[in-house]
Amino acid sequence: DPDPDPDTFERTLAADERVEPRDWMPDAYRATLVRQIAQHAHSEIIGMQPEANWITRAPSLRRKAILIAKVQDEAGHGLYLYGAAETLGVAREELLDALHEGRQRYSSIFNYPTLTWADVGAIGWLVDGAAITNQVPLCRCSYGPYARAMVRICKEESFHQRQGYELLLALAKGTDAQRAMAQDAVDRWWWPSLMMFGPPDAESPHTRQSMAWKIKRHSNDELRQRFVDICVPQAETLGLTLPDPALRWNEERGHFDHGPIDWAEFKAVLRGAGPCNEQRIGQRRRAHAEGAWVREAAAAYARKQRDRRPA
Ligand code: ACO
Repeated sequence: DPDPDPDTFERTLAADERVEPRDWMPDAYRATLVRQIAQHAHSEIIGMQPEANWITRAPSLRRKAILIAKVQDEAGHGLYLYGAAETLGVAREELLDALHEGRQRYSSIFNYPTLTWADVGAIGWLVDGAAITNQVPLCRCSYGPYARAMVRICKEESFHQRQGYELLLALAKGTDAQRAMAQDAVDRWWWPSLMMFGPPDAESPHTRQSMAWKIKRHSNDELRQRFVDICVPQAETLGLTLPDPALRWNEERGHFDHGPIDWAEFKAVLRGAGPCNEQRIGQRRRAHAEGAWVREAAAAYARKQRDRRPA
């Protein structure tokens, strides 16, 4: 471990430079990053489940190929992020154990079911749209490996967002039944998407410190507002309605006002009482157990290659 050097750490932050793995950093800074990056990584891999649900039922070969690629991208995002977390001195196995034992979180959003094909579009438009809004500022996070991982992730997320929007647009311009299916999906995903940004600023225990450390660049409410402002005109173009009668332009603030968010629902989902919490974590644990032989085989192969190399 490097010698404690709080001055260099503070100077790095003040100059908007990056903290790198070998630099000294406060224990609490390291712990906050491990928590956030692990939660982010877990979200990426748990997030594969709701959409994978539709791969076998995609309505055309083109849609199926796109969806497979997208779900595969999410696995890749998980890998970059577990890699970034490992630079902080934690092992991937530890993080996965923490997920499986309920000691670390994943995003609330992935505890909702995907009931129809239109949900794949609504997830791309709203869920990936919210993810990008939250993640673009993370490209400027003070911790180098996390910031760099976010650059590529954001590029891929932009593609995901556009495929969702294009899918919903096709449904919205389709038959009455298709339009109704698209509207129903937007009705169900809108509010949970707003909850992705986390609790209101006044009830967010970590925001102040994380912003001081330049891990977070904006507060939860600021990013939520930015997302609402982006979505309203996009919904108009789609010809779909956002399920909030209180949504209206506020000339004075220069933003859209929105109705109250059901924070009791958010808290219930975080407690494990969302519609799909048990199913998601159960599936993850099963997949991990069933993949044990792959991990063993990969480790055995790596050992063999290493032993073969001349010393
Ligand atoms: N789902 C689950 N847990 C959440 C969510 C959410 N949507 N929002 C906040 N929380 C948790 C926090 O992890 C924290 O947990 P703790 O009490 O166990 O420490 C608690 O609620 C309080 O929240 P905050 O103080 O606001 O926490 P934080 O400063 O970490 O902000 C945020 C939360 C905005 C989600 C932040 O961690 C972040 O930007 N993370 C990176 C992005 C990310 O994880 N995206 C994943 C979903 S997108 C995708 O994968 C496609």
